[in-house]
Parts: sequence; structure tokens; C-alpha cells
Amino acid sequence: MKLLFWPVVLSIEILFVTRPITSLCPPQDDTSFCLCTESTDTCFYSCTASFGASLVSMGEYFNPCPRIKLSLTGEANFLPHGFFTKFGDMRSFEFTFSGLKLDSLTDPSPGPSVFQDTSVSDQWSLNFNWVETKNNWNWLDFSALEVGNTATTSFYSNISKIDNMNSDFYSAFENANLDSIVIGLAGLKSLADVPTGKYSTLVNMNFEKNEIQEIKRSHFPRPATNLKSISLSWNKIRVLPENLFTEMPELKYIDISANPISVLPEMTFKPIISSLNRLYVINLALSCDCQLAWILPYWETKVIDSGGMAWRPRRCKEPTHLANKSVGELTVDNLNCADRVEA
Ligand SMILES: *[C@@H]1O[C@H](CO)[C@@H](O)[C@H](O)[C@H]1NC(C)=O
Ligand SMILES: *[C@@H]1O[C@H](CO)[C@@H](O)[C@H](O)[C@H]1NC(C)=O
Repeated sequence: MKLLFWPVVLSIEILFVTRPITSLCPPQDDTSFCLCTESTDTCFYSCTASFGASLVSMGEYFNPCPRIKLSLTGEANFLPHGFFTKFGDMRSFEFTFSGLKLDSLTDPSPGPSVFQDTSVSDQWSLNFNWVETKNNWNWLDFSALEVGNTATTSFYSNISKIDNMNSDFYSAFENANLDSIVIGLAGLKSLADVPTGKYSTLVNMNFEKNEIQEIKRSHFPRPATNLKSISLSWNKIRVLPENLFTEMPELKYIDISANPISVLPEMTFKPIISSLNRLYVINLALSCDCQLAWILPYWETKVIDSGGMAWRPRRCKEPTHLANKSVGELTVDNLNCADRVEA
């Protein structure tokens, strides 16, 4: 037995010790326009598209790798059919578009999506930086990437032009366990409705620095079981509907700074104010009348306003004798119903 056993152990050891460490990145290739570097289980691809170069050869250059972080910059109208297919099944995939103007994600001629035959089991992250989406943009292209049951997805966009956040957006990520949506500085004029009963996985929703005029309860998951943080700062919202924060048991952070909001209605905040950690109201021109009295007990502990700031952003706008006062300096006696200005 012993004589037989040792050669077996030895050959197993040889197998593990001397097996050449296969590299995860493909060999450097001058025609791929990508640089690939790797760490233990992650491949970092940095790729540059240009109209002269073939994106098809870039797609063929890709190698399977457990975790992939890929950044694509340069010039392209769309990506070829099956562009990411060689990545196959991934544990995580972080894809960053930067500085691209895209008519559509996938080549609009008939054929498979860029995500044909790809899947992610842990984490799918999609980032847009300085991307301009154009006429043929179709969110449904993203639904071809298969997201495992226990995987989560985050969508992050900053300083990109996305003017059609239509209902397709929420169809595209319906099975992706989306936990974070950030669409900042995108020029968004309106938000899409979240389909009832879907997207309860969302934890963070941030639509800061857009042109949103109207905000509705239907722009958030119903119910929003896991939603912790909402940012709507630097938009054009005037009114906060009464039901806006209903069915949001985990909500801890709300940022409505820098909107033309003059009233913080008690009915709107009632469902969440006691469990809320922070309400950001920096640079709101408030009407400081009796409608604001309900919030005074919470102001010191929960509300972040412009009180301590060196610059003089808007605080109370009305009535004139309270103009530029910080709400934190006021008492119930200062807040009179006679000063109430109808919106
Ligand atoms: C967007 O980018 C700007 C400029 O780099 C930055 O200040 C801001 O925090 C970013 N917003 C988000 C939501 O990451
Ligand atoms: C309030 O502040 C604004 C901006 O600094 C200023 O233009 C305005 O005169 C101030 N109003 C009063 C009543 O102090």
C-alpha cells in the first residue's frame, strides 16, 4: 500500500506545484486596443474604441476571467453583436463606459445583444461617465445579461446625458436585483414609474442635479422594503406629495436640497420622520410659517440645513421679517399662520 501511495501523492503535488500558472488576461495584442492587467481573480481591461479600429476584434480578444472590470472609452456609435460573449459566466462584472456617444448599445441591425450568453453570479455594476445616449438607445439591451438569484446590480451614472429614462429602464433590470440607482447630472426631466411590486431590492436611489419638476410615489418601489436613501437634490421640484415616503420602512436619508420647495408638509414626512436619520434641506427657500412648526423638535437632531455655512444660501424666504433666518434659530412663536403664503 505504502509503495503505491507515495507515487500518487507525489504526482498530485507535481500537478499543483509545477503546473504553469495560466494567466487570466489574454496575451497583449496590438490590434485589440485594450490593456489587460490582472490580480488573483480579477482582470482589469482598459479599452479604447476608435472609428478606425474594429470593435469586433476587441470582442474576440477578451478572455474568460472570474471577475472582470472593464472600462471602455473613445469613439463608437454602438458595440458589435455578442461583444461580451467571450466573458461567458462571471462572478462579477464591472463595466464602465466613459466619454462615449452611443446611438445604441448593441449594433441596431438584427442580431444578438452585446451580452449574449453572459452571466454574473455575484455583482454586476454598470457605470456611465460622460456618456451621451442617443436616439436609438434601448435599455432592454441590458436584460440579456443573466443575473444570478443571489447577485446584486448597481447602476451608476454621473455627468452623462440620459434623457429617456422610460419604462424600458425598469423592464431591463427587472431580474437583476438592483440595489442602487444613481443618475446624477444627466439632464433628466422626468423619472419612470417603478412597476408595482417590483424592485424592492433597491437600497439607494439618487437623482441629484437633474431637471426633474414632478416627483411621485410611483417613481419609487411600491413597497420600498429596503430603501435607505433618496437624493433628489438640485432639481426643479416644487411640491412633495403627501404619500411620497409611504411604505418605506427603512428610509434613513432624504436629500431634497436646492429645489424650489417652500413647504415641508407634515403629512409627507409623518410616516418616516421618527425613524429618519437625516433630512438634507440645504438651500431651500422656505416659507417660515405655522406649516413648519411640526418639524422644529426634529430640526437640531435630524435636519441638515445651511445654518453653519459661511456662504449665505437660502433659508427662510418668507415672511420678510424672518428672511435669511435659519429655521434652527426660530421657535414656534415665530411661525405664524398669518404669514402663510399659498404655493
Ligand atoms: C458626480 O461628479 C461630480 C464631479 O466629479 C461629483 O462632485 C459628484 O459627487 C458626483 N455625484 C455622484 C452622485 O457621485
Ligand atoms: C437675504 O440674502 C440674500 C442673498 O444673500 C440677499 O440678497 C438679501 O438681501 C437678504 N435679505 C435680507 C432681508 O437680509
